[in-house]
Amino acid sequence: MGLERTFAILKPETVERRLIGEVLRRIEEAGFKILALKLLRASREQAERLYEVHAGKPFYGELIDHITSGPIVPMVLEAENAVEKLRRLIGATDPAKAEPGTIRRDLGISITKNVIHAADSRESYEREHKIFFTPEEILNY
Ligand code: CMP
Repeated sequence: MGLERTFAILKPETVERRLIGEVLRRIEEAGFKILALKLLRASREQAERLYEVHAGKPFYGELIDHITSGPIVPMVLEAENAVEKLRRLIGATDPAKAEPGTIRRDLGISITKNVIHAADSRESYEREHKIFFTPEEILNY
């Protein structure tokens, strides 16, 4: 396995609800190292690139509208087995179906407003983090 990187985004409702600190606390306590972090408002182009695999699905419009509705916090994280580890910490897509103690179960509002997005594979990490970060913005320490 070894050290691996993953990519996550705190969604607009998380920033709006002032839960940035709460979610980052859980991520840091789980052992992730933050290599890059910023606050920004995603453009429509960035949102469409992020969610390109969902284009054409019934919820696609709502997904794009939501992720562009306010500031978000994209980040690059490092840990052993980071992709899988973060997905376990976050829980299932639907907060109502997520395991107790997961971020989405504890803090999520709905499938769309499910607190945080996370890359689902190494390939997704490679593709998604480049939408929001240049190589120079990812710190090696
Ligand atoms: P996320 O991890 O950001 O990746 C894609 C998002 O699509 C997902 O979280 C949900 O917010 C959303 N999503 C997935 N399935 C559905 C669905 N059936 N209805 C509405 N939104 C969905």
